[in-house]
Order: sequence, then structure tokens, then C-alpha cells
Amino acid sequence: MSPSPPAGAGAPPPKGFVIAIDGPAASGKSSTAQWVADSLGYVHVDSGALYRAATACRARKGGPAAEWTEDSVLEAASRVTLRMVGSWLEPLIDGVPAETEIRGSPITSQVSRVAQMPRVRAWVNDRVRATAQDFDVVVDGRDIGTVVFPDAPLKIFLVADPWERARRRLTQQLERRPSDEEIAAETERLVKRDSRDSTQTVQAKDAVLIDTTYLTQAEQVERIVALARAVTRRPGDTSPVDA
Ligand code: CDP
Repeated sequence: MSPSPPAGAGAPPPKGFVIAIDGPAASGKSSTAQWVADSLGYVHVDSGALYRAATACRARKGGPAAEWTEDSVLEAASRVTLRMVGSWLEPLIDGVPAETEIRGSPITSQVSRVAQMPRVRAWVNDRVRATAQDFDVVVDGRDIGTVVFPDAPLKIFLVADPWERARRRLTQQLERRPSDEEIAAETERLVKRDSRDSTQTVQAKDAVLIDTTYLTQAEQVERIVALARAVTRRPGDTSPVDA
């Protein structure tokens, strides 16, 4: 049997500049990607939000998640559209924002199952690639630098200690300081999700690894923006690059 072509083979190369930010659950990819996009005037595409929106559409139809078929997820996902809000590409369900729903724990606990479905992955990737035909983009996810844009000129892989990731995620969600017990429970959930997502969470060979455990968000954004400026410099440009 001949090997199957890589996912995305044959997709036209992006017309815009692509910065790929990958990494495990709650490693700060989305907020960092949004900030980097704002700093550079790019569009932020959160591929995880598309997996979440597809999962939410299917969840609304009911039935045990273990019995969801790929066809039924794809059919439900046809209700998802994207709209540009500043530099952010927001997924809508039936034309209505669904941010709170897609970030809630019922969806978080099922999204990895949906993200295993090859045709759902193709559905997400088509939407992400279409955006890069029209705009310079910062795309965050798990496989952006390996599968979706293997030729991206700048790839970042963000990691952080699981406890710190859990602490940050809870602080954002609860808007208060989480207790150690809460952090321990969230760490367990994150590590489980990392393991379910491990097939697609791959660091590209040419990605820059940034461990954010001891960095502020401003510091990690600065590093990525400096790398982006270095990569996009025109020949002959001798102005200093701040690192
Ligand atoms: O923000 P967080 O790290 O919690 O996750 P997310 O980026 O919102 O992604 C939600 C889920 O979508 C992940 O747990 C993966 O199952 C899936 N995902 C994926 O498989 N591939 C991507 N490129 C992005 C997300």
C-alpha cells in the first residue's frame, strides 16, 4: 500500500505571512497569539476555538458523546461561521457569539474526542488556511507548524509547567486566586487532556521552544514579536532588532 499524502497536501501556499504557535493545553497560546497579532497588525486565528465550536454544535443536538459520529459532528458544524472582530476571528453558531459556551467544561471535556476525527480536522484546517489566503495571520493550536502550515516562516512551541498552566487557567476563569486543591484538580484534567491530544500536539523541528513557566505574558509576547520582526526584515534593513 502506498503511503497516504500528508494532510493538507495540495492546499495552495498561504498568501499572507504565517506565525504558528503550538503547544499543550492552557500553555497561553491563544492569549499570546492575540497579543502578538495586535502588535503586528495580523489576524489571530484560534484553531482550538473551531474544534470547540464544532463540539458545541454537536453537543446541542444531544445524545451520549461516545456515540457521536463524524458525519453528525460535521453536519452540526455547518452552523459555524466566522466573523472578524478587530484582529480576532470569532466563531459564531447560527450567527450568534458562543464564547462562554465553547470554553465551558462540558465542551472542554469532549473536544479532544471530536478533534480526533480526520474529517473534522480537515474542516478546521480548510477554514484556517482560507484565512491565510487573505491576511497575515498568527494561528494557534497543536499541529499548526507541522500539518497546517509546515512551511510557516516562524513557528513557536509554547510550554509551561502543568501546575502553572492550571493556576493561570483557573485565575482567568474564576477571576480570583485559586486554592491549591483547585489547582491540583485542574492540573489533573489538563494532563489528561494533554495525553488525549498527544498525537496531534507535535513540536515542529524548526519551531522555537519557549518555556513560559517563569515568563510574564508581556515577556513571551515581546520575544515572539522580536522573532517575527527578525524573520520579516527586508534585505538591507540594518535597524536593530530588540530581543
Ligand atoms: O486553550 P486550550 O489549550 O485549552 O485548548 P484549545 O486551543 O482551545 O483547543 C481545544 C482542543 O481542540 C484541544 O484540547 C484539542 O483537542 C483540539 N485542538 C486540536 O486538536 N488541534 C488544534 N490545532 C487545536 C486544538
